Amino acid sequence: MEKLLADRTAKIDASGIRKVFALAQSLENPVNLSIGQPDFDVPDELKSAAIEAIKGGLNKYSMSAGDDALRNKIAARLSDGIGWDKPNVMITSGVSGGLLLCFLSLINPGDEVIIPDPYFVIYKHIVNMLGGKCVFIDTYPDFDLPVEAISEAITEKTKLIIINSPCNPTGKVYSSEKLEKLAEVASKKGVPVMSDEIYEEFSYDQDCPTIASYYDKTLILGGFGKAYAMTGWRLGYAAVSDAMAELLEQMVKIQQYTFVCPPTPFQQAAIAALDYDISPMVDKYRHKRDLVYNGLKDKFEVSLPQGAFYAFVKAPGGSATEFVAKAIKNNCLIIPGNVFSEKDTHFRLSYAASDEDIEKGIAILRKLAE
Ligand SMILES: Cc1ncc(COP(=O)(O)O)c(C=O)c1O
Repeated sequence: MEKLLADRTAKIDASGIRKVFALAQSLENPVNLSIGQPDFDVPDELKSAAIEAIKGGLNKYSMSAGDDALRNKIAARLSDGIGWDKPNVMITSGVSGGLLLCFLSLINPGDEVIIPDPYFVIYKHIVNMLGGKCVFIDTYPDFDLPVEAISEAITEKTKLIIINSPCNPTGKVYSSEKLEKLAEVASKKGVPVMSDEIYEEFSYDQDCPTIASYYDKTLILGGFGKAYAMTGWRLGYAAVSDAMAELLEQMVKIQQYTFVCPPTPFQQAAIAALDYDISPMVDKYRHKRDLVYNGLKDKFEVSLPQGAFYAFVKAPGGSATEFVAKAIKNNCLIIPGNVFSEKDTHFRLSYAASDEDIEKGIAILRKLAE
């Protein structure tokens, strides 16, 4: 045997994030503004729903596509919100599970996938692993949806356009006007859109619109982890209209032979979650967003994040990696932009932290900017 590992393992470069963790290891009690999950715990009511499901014996495999009651409840919501007639829904093991199934079902080696940059890390690495080609579209400095540039980048080989609003890492929420324009472009060229809506509930100044309202060749990926602080329960969903039913069928087939099914008892908690009002949490996160923006805007180049729980801030001095190393030496954990981008000019700050830590972090960063 010449080589133990498959070539695809070399297509994932995790060195950027590893360096951050290596630097951070020496810190005792860091101000941690690097984490992409809520600082609150799962609401008690939803914990009880999961515990009751476990005690009640719902511990075996579920259907490959997930629990019917949960799928139907999500479908009813989507059909009210988007106007799709009877959406096709499957439950996935987190949104990451949905991403993998979507890419496995769509991408052949050499296929192109259009991705606005900055982007959520997983997209790039799975597309590369499958031999696809990421076509990044620069969205700096305002991070808005680059409809014209996307239109120009579409070729015969384009298989998919990915969008993520509210966006990790920029906090941008795309307007319905922009989404409608992208829908026109994609529809003219017949290219499907994957819309990652995991932060849908965390939109602070408006309801978050979806491209699915304008385009029936949309695959929606939604999640439960961020909204209900249950990231470790690994739950998400994928939904399409009839125009993309064959994609969802293939995703279910591949789920059957990979993940097998999403976690059974937690799907019961997800049914309860859909009736749980998280607006008090969203209000708290709006306040955290304001703390960060008002605390940084006179010293840093930063635009007001409209959603998710991140600010994407220009690093003084030009190199994000160098600035982040300095911040970590001063006890503040943030992530360099090159983990989420082909550029290394910005850093991502997560305000999914206590107000106290946010204030401490802002004080450290302000000092470093002086
Ligand atoms: C934009 C985006 N999509 C997907 C995911 C993955 O979510 P999950 O934990 O449900 O797999 C994340 C997690 O950080 C994310 O930020």
